[in-house]
Amino acid sequence: MKKTTIFAVLMLFIWACRKEDAPIVVADPPFDPFSVVSAHLNISKKAPDLSFSLPIWLKEYQPTIPANNNLIELGRVIFYDKKLSADGKIACASCHHQEHAFADIVPLSTGVNGKKTKRNSMTLTSNISFGGVMGMLDTGTTLYPLFWDSRVLSIQAQSKAAFTNPLEMDITLSKVVSTVAEQPYYPWLFERAFGDSVVTESRILLSIAHFLNNLHTYNSKFDRAMQVHIANGGTTDLDATLTGLTTEENQGKALYVAHCNNCHSGLNNVRGIFEANNGLESPYIDKGKNLITGYFFDVGVFRVPMLRNIAYSAPYMHDGRFTTLEQVIEHYNSGVIKGYGLHGELLQLDEATQTYSAKRLNLTEAEKAALKAFLLTLSDESVLTDQRYADPFK
Ligand code: HEC
Ligand code: HEC
Repeated sequence: MKKTTIFAVLMLFIWACRKEDAPIVVADPPFDPFSVVSAHLNISKKAPDLSFSLPIWLKEYQPTIPANNNLIELGRVIFYDKKLSADGKIACASCHHQEHAFADIVPLSTGVNGKKTKRNSMTLTSNISFGGVMGMLDTGTTLYPLFWDSRVLSIQAQSKAAFTNPLEMDITLSKVVSTVAEQPYYPWLFERAFGDSVVTESRILLSIAHFLNNLHTYNSKFDRAMQVHIANGGTTDLDATLTGLTTEENQGKALYVAHCNNCHSGLNNVRGIFEANNGLESPYIDKGKNLITGYFFDVGVFRVPMLRNIAYSAPYMHDGRFTTLEQVIEHYNSGVIKGYGLHGELLQLDEATQTYSAKRLNLTEAEKAALKAFLLTLSDESVLTDQRYADPFK
């Protein structure tokens, strides 16, 4: 047959079909596994992008591995999932609230069945994200130890401890795995993150590590001021006066560099003193690192936290004893107690008697206010509301 004939026959056929009132067959739409996910979670098919650029003075720490957005979002869902606890009521997020820089507002947090933790919950937007940047993003191993007593070296180990802690979530890892496997929304999330829906302990822990490692918080007033300073040819030296800060904030920064930075550092990712006894009491009720090592010189030794987002994570210290930054500043100004093991940074030598006593800063009211003003420049408000870190459950 000639092409034209075939064409004509075809057209006739189509025309005939159109004329007929053929019954409309509605085929079942193909099953979309995402519909199961979206019945439970406020998430999109495409995970939000969490790749980021570190500010210029931190460029050398820029991770070479791009953010694994699918893994991060799986970690976020697990972080907020209350089913993964003995009473089905406690998630990681129950003690680490986004609006408080992923810390808690009470000295001791409430775990399963109303039990109280022994220590104050810690912000996850300071030590973790910085440790993560410097640590290995692929494994979740942080460069700096975690917890108030530095007892673990990776987010995986830390998360395991949180799940199994009888005062926190009180659930075995095998129960976490089976509970995750039972939920209808996880197969799709695992498939997207790993290429198949097999649930394993290491996959769960890895995804939490990726979520926590990607709580980026580099958009504080201090960061922006530093950015301008470096762009104008300045150095990373913290001593410099920054044009992006007020006179008072710069004055506070100088006090911070003189009295606090040797321990707390961390603003430019360089950690000096990891842990110390900062003279809160004597004798120490909570023996801190000593409970782990048994060494007498570790009594009252606690991790030195980085102070990014410190304005949001009150109350302060391992037992949450201080509710305001003013109280913290007053502690260092006039309240340090010289017990056994007080760190050398907090001692002062009396030349006349050649004896050491607890350091007194003798700050004026204006200086205390300036120090506080500087600490407030370390706040990155965006992390409190960033939807990429928010509770995904409906
Ligand atoms: C019942 C409250 C509670 C729950 C639930 C909880 N945490 Fe914590 N978290 C704490 C407390 C309290 C600490 C400090 C404990 C200590 O140092 O002994 C802490 C410390 C941490 C730290 C260490 C931070 C640092 O800078 O060293 C990380 C990370 C962390 N939690 C993540 C998680 C994750 C992930 C989960 C869920 C798997 C979780 N937490 C569940 C209360 C809680
Ligand atoms: C000798 C080292 C050292 C020096 C110096 C030091 N700190 Fe600390 N700081 C610590 C340690 C250790 C902790 C945790 C102690 C604890 O909880 O038992 C801490 C805790 C804090 C906290 C509470 C953090 C939180 O997440 O709860 C703040 C705020 C703080 N310090 C601010 C300052 C300021 C401001 C200065 C300077 C005036 C300063 N520190 C000087 C070691 C030090």
